[in-house]
Amino acid sequence: MSDTASAKALAAFYQEDVTWVHHWNNTLFSFRCTRDPALRFVAGQFAMIGLMVEGKPLTRAYSMVSPPWDEGLEFLSIKVQNGPLTSRLQHIQVGEKVLIGRKPVGTLVVENLLPGRNLWMLATGTGLAPFMSLIRDPDTYEKFDRVVVAHTVRQVSELAYRQYITEDLPAHELLGEWASEKLIYAPSVTREPFPVQGRITTRIETGAAYAQTGLAALDPALDRVMMCGSEAFNADTEALVQKLGFVEGTNNQPGSYVLEKAFVTK
Ligand code: A2P
Repeated sequence: MSDTASAKALAAFYQEDVTWVHHWNNTLFSFRCTRDPALRFVAGQFAMIGLMVEGKPLTRAYSMVSPPWDEGLEFLSIKVQNGPLTSRLQHIQVGEKVLIGRKPVGTLVVENLLPGRNLWMLATGTGLAPFMSLIRDPDTYEKFDRVVVAHTVRQVSELAYRQYITEDLPAHELLGEWASEKLIYAPSVTREPFPVQGRITTRIETGAAYAQTGLAALDPALDRVMMCGSEAFNADTEALVQKLGFVEGTNNQPGSYVLEKAFVTK
């Protein structure tokens, strides 16, 4: 790439400094970076994130884990050994540069949902990321009576942010009261022993998810659903809620469920 072409490609990004890296296990990590004060986003949105590789930006869609009021940015990523981006990104160190797209977008926002009773956030793996932002946005609590984070993973070590959700957030100076009163964390693990086992889809179908949360069965007239996970998860969960009568919300027309189609698999 010529210097001019490279500069043009880079113009779509902020270059930020990595300030923190945390490895949850050998497949999953989080990192934080500085945030340009001009970067605006709504909880639940994603941006193109990446690295300069051979003089070119190499980026993928990543949901912001951090809430809009946070002065830094945080992301959750898988590590794929031969993945073009994550094979490199997993080795990122404090002080190194990352590219952050200037225009966050996405459909997984509270505005795309009609007002309702309970908000169910259904995630697998790194699909938890946008919900971490949403559960720290006061708007989420103002609009719903109860907010459920149902996170399904294969292994217990993939329950990223578990301690944050169950201990730190309820004790948070500003959000603690809301989180204690309204937030329900409903993790489940599918491939090793854990008190709650099985896919969230199955657990909704059998009613186990209602027993776990103490909430009434999903009702499209009252409840709202957000989903974020692998392509197969999104497809199956969408089919499940559509069967129950839920209607997709978009940026033009709020509905009773929304899903995010942008995700990182490599
Ligand atoms: P399972 O272990 O039964 O496959 P993955 O890494 O394949 O994306 O899976 C992450 C988690 O999401 C796993 O717990 C997995 O359960 C679950 N999962 C994968 N695909 C689906 C699906 N189509 N519907 C519901 N849960 C799914």
